[in-house]
Amino acid sequence: MTTPDATSDEVDRPYGGADAPDAPKRVRIRHFARAKEQGIRITGLTSYDFLTAQIFDAAGVDFLLVGDSAGNTVFGFDTTIPVTVDALIPLTRAVARACSRALVVADLPFGSYENGPDDALRTAIRFMKETEAHAVKLEGGVRSQEQIRRIVTAGIPVMAHIGFTPQSEHGLGGHLIQGRGEGAEALLDDARAVEAAGAFAVVLEMVPSAVAQRVTNELSIPTISVGAGPHCDGQLLVWTDWAGLTTGRIPRFVKQYADLAGTLRHAAERFCADVASGVYPAAEHEYQD
Ligand code: KIV
Repeated sequence: MTTPDATSDEVDRPYGGADAPDAPKRVRIRHFARAKEQGIRITGLTSYDFLTAQIFDAAGVDFLLVGDSAGNTVFGFDTTIPVTVDALIPLTRAVARACSRALVVADLPFGSYENGPDDALRTAIRFMKETEAHAVKLEGGVRSQEQIRRIVTAGIPVMAHIGFTPQSEHGLGGHLIQGRGEGAEALLDDARAVEAAGAFAVVLEMVPSAVAQRVTNELSIPTISVGAGPHCDGQLLVWTDWAGLTTGRIPRFVKQYADLAGTLRHAAERFCADVASGVYPAAEHEYQD
């Protein structure tokens, strides 16, 4: 795969963290293509607000997804199904404003693209104009092929999402691994469909590693794993799971890199105790005349 020449302020490797000498100033979709060619692994986290986006961007995470997982992590729904475009737009705008390097991907929520390519393009344009995201993501393989094609034709990069697609949770019968047994061929068909439609990358969610490896070997666009094993071209996690902020059930594919729930709970308990005992506020926290 060829990519256009880099301009002087941009180099061609998405990897390396923000401080790496050859880290790109701004990650573009061509860096995804180059990463696949060069075997450089792509990193992604979800983000839903300005402060976490600033931190992840500075850390060198290659892309931030403003996922409709906000339905669970921000709004407290049981599924992503109730999430609306109007709810995601302010979150996406905040994330995009925080990022100087990471590629920001806006997730199209359930009901905003299924009616057809016109519907999908209208929603994608809204996200691009109102949030300054750099790309959109939508769920579905063969069934979303025309939507992807239409959005890409309008000049908007699309990240596809196949395997377990949470917006179809009820249709799929729950949180089930996809692509097992005979399902592998259907998954490959989905992967081929989104590549043919022009997606620049494809998320594989909860897919057996061997099947994800087949998809990764066959496609020329990068595969991004969310519980699809080590053979994909990149890894993406929901940040609240990854940082130990989510309480309750965590999928087995998540590695927790922090215990934010414990840290915050401990801090809140200390605050309550300090206020009760009069330790806080102390003299240094007071204003004087
Ligand atoms: O909304 C989201 O966070 C997602 C990822 C889990 C892929 O779609």
